[in-house]
Amino acid sequence: MADFDVIVWGATGFTGRLVAEYLAERHGPGEGGGTDARVSWTIAGRNAKKLETLRAELGATGDALPVLVANSSDVDSLREMVRRTRVVCSAVGPYAKYGSDLVRVCAEEGVDYCDLAGEVHWMRRMIDEHEATAGTNGARIVHSCGFDCIPSDLGVHYVQRVMHERHGVYAREVKFRALDFKGGMSGGTADSMMYMLEETERDPGIRRVMQNPYALNPGEEKGLDGPDSQAAFYDEDFHTWAGPFMMAGINTRVVRRTHALLGYPYGRDFRYGEAMLTKDGPVGFTSAVVVSMGSAAMTTMTTFPSIRHLLARFVPKPGDGPSHAAREAGYFKVALLGKHPEDADKDVLVDVQGDRDPGYGSTARMLGESALCLALDGLNSPGGITTPAASMGDALLARLSDHAGVTFSEG
Ligand SMILES: NC(=O)c1ccc[n+]([C@@H]2O[C@H](COP(=O)([O-])OP(=O)(O)OC[C@H]3O[C@@H](n4cnc5c(N)ncnc54)[C@H](OP(=O)(O)O)[C@@H]3O)[C@@H](O)[C@H]2O)c1
Repeated sequence: MADFDVIVWGATGFTGRLVAEYLAERHGPGEGGGTDARVSWTIAGRNAKKLETLRAELGATGDALPVLVANSSDVDSLREMVRRTRVVCSAVGPYAKYGSDLVRVCAEEGVDYCDLAGEVHWMRRMIDEHEATAGTNGARIVHSCGFDCIPSDLGVHYVQRVMHERHGVYAREVKFRALDFKGGMSGGTADSMMYMLEETERDPGIRRVMQNPYALNPGEEKGLDGPDSQAAFYDEDFHTWAGPFMMAGINTRVVRRTHALLGYPYGRDFRYGEAMLTKDGPVGFTSAVVVSMGSAAMTTMTTFPSIRHLLARFVPKPGDGPSHAAREAGYFKVALLGKHPEDADKDVLVDVQGDRDPGYGSTARMLGESALCLALDGLNSPGGITTPAASMGDALLARLSDHAGVTFSEG
C-alpha cells in the first residue's frame, strides 16, 4: 500500500509550485485536510531547504506534508520516491534533460505518472523504450497534461461524444481553432524549447520525428493528415482568416496517438488539424499573414545558435514566470468543429474555455486534476505510454469542468 496518492515532483519550480498550491487549496496541505480528506499527497524535489520553505508557505507541518528529496541524477532516490506513491506528477523540465529515468522507474514499478512534456521527440523515445514495460506492469504514463494538449485531446473526445450521441456517427474530420488567449511564458518552458533546439542540432533525426504528423503513433503509421500548415488561409467553415497555431506540432500528434490507442473508432481516414483564427476581411488576412511569417521567421532564426543565445537573454530564467495578477487576468478560448460525414447541418461545434492564463494558471490545475484522476477515479484504462483522453476521458472532463475552471460545452 503506497503512502501517498500523489507526489508532486519539482514542486519548487514555477509550475510545480502552482500545482502544489492548487492541491493544497483543493485538499488541504497533506493528508486529511481541505474539502476532500481522502487525498494524501506531498511535495518532492532536489532541494530539501526549498521544499521546506514551500511547505511553510503552504501552511503545512512536517507530519502533514513530509518533503521527499529526489534528484534526476540519482536513480535510487527516484525509485524510493516512486515506491511511496500511486501517482507521480512531474513538473521537472526540460523533460528530455531530466525526465527519462523517472519514466523508466515508474514503468518498472507499475506506478502511474503524468507531466507537462511538450517535447515530441522525447515522448517518442519514451514510447520506444518503455511502452512494453509500462503495459506489462500496468503503469499509465501520461505526457502533456497541460494546455498542450488537454484542450485538444479532450476537446476531440468531447466533440465525438456529442456527435455520436446525437447522430450515431463519428466526425471524420475535426478542426481545432484557437480563438483568443492571454498569458505569458515561464523560464522552464523557454529552457525546454532551447534544449530541444540544441538536441536537434546534435541529432538531425529529431527534426524528422517532429515533422512527422504521426510521430507518436504506434509503429510506422501513415494517414490523411500532412504536415502542419504554416501558411495563412481562409477557413470556409469559420468564415475567417487563419494562421498556424504554435502548439499544433505537439497537440496534433497526441490526438492522433489517442485515436490509434483507442483502436481508430473515427475511421482510418480521420483527419485532425489546428490553426489560429484571426478575423474576416483585410485586417484578418493581414493578421494571418503576420502570424504565419512570424512563425516561419522564429523557426528559421532559432536554428542559429548565436540568435538562440541572444534570445536567451530576453526570455525568463528557470523558476520565473507570469505574475499572479497576469495569471488571474489570463484566459483561453478555443473552438472545435466536428464535421458530420454527410450533412453539414449536423456538424458539432464545441467551445473549450479556461479562466486562467493557459500556460500556468490553467495548466497547473489541469495537471493537478490529471494526477488526482489517475489516483482516485478507478479508471480501467490499461498501462502504457498513453494520453489524457485515452487514459482518463470522461472522468477528467468532469473534474476539469467541476473544479479547474476549464469547461467544454456545445457552442
Ligand atoms: N505543456 C504545457 O502546457 C506546459 C506549461 C507549463 C510548463 N510546461 C513545462 O513544464 C516544465 C517545468 O516548467 P517550469 O517553468 O515550472 O520550470 P522551472 O521553474 O525551471 O522548474 C523546474 C523544476 O525542476 C527542478 N529540477 C531541475 N533539475 C532537477 C534535477 N536534476 N532533479 C530534480 N529536480 C530538478 C527544479 O528544482 P529547483 O527548484 O531546485 O531548481 C524545479 O523544481 C518545463 O519543461 C515546461 O516546458 C509545460
